[in-house]
Amino acid sequence: MGSDKSLLRLAVLASGRGSNLQAIIDSIKNSTLAAKVVVVISDNPEALALERARQEGIPAVSLPPAEYRTKDEYEQRLVEVCEDSQADLVVLAGYMRMLGRTFLKRFPNRVVNIHPSLLPSFPGLHAQRQAIEYGVRFSGCTVHFVDEGMDTGPIILQAVVPVHSNDTEETLAERILVQEHQLYPQALNLIARGQIQIEGRRVRLKE
Ligand code: GRF
Repeated sequence: MGSDKSLLRLAVLASGRGSNLQAIIDSIKNSTLAAKVVVVISDNPEALALERARQEGIPAVSLPPAEYRTKDEYEQRLVEVCEDSQADLVVLAGYMRMLGRTFLKRFPNRVVNIHPSLLPSFPGLHAQRQAIEYGVRFSGCTVHFVDEGMDTGPIILQAVVPVHSNDTEETLAERILVQEHQLYPQALNLIARGQIQIEGRRVRLKE
């Protein structure tokens, strides 16, 4: 791995258990991802993700939206925390809120998300349940850039998993999660290595 300066600086936003955050941290530790998590931020003070960050000696910041008068003020604070930590890229890892213009205009093409379906199918909440109810034979996960829509930004990478006839929301989520933990660090590493170029809606992967 290069010197600290060459590492992509990640601000990770998470609302819950933080298993994707952990996969990112683990990939950094085993040198398959040339990045550094500079801050973990949660809208939920109880999020396990914050505890995982503390365990790793990463600054953990709890920002409950209820403490702000408006979404705008809340997002301004989010921007401040990300900028103070000199983040290059904002990584949504189970962050359960939509980011608005106030935040996104400060990080143009510098916010990514992972979603547990093959977008553009099944955006929004309960993607795994949506897939089962629709009756698809395959689902998976998608890493994409974040725009103002709901899971609509340019797609970086996807991974496919089968959907079995006896799957429940939980068993499918588990199968997808295994792929998420590989796909997210892989996508971040492509960004870290400058191998990604956005052309309109399409993301070109450079050799
Ligand atoms: C993942 O399934 C992710 O795709 C979705 O939220 C879940 C977060 O899980 N956006 P975790 O908090 O990373 O364990």
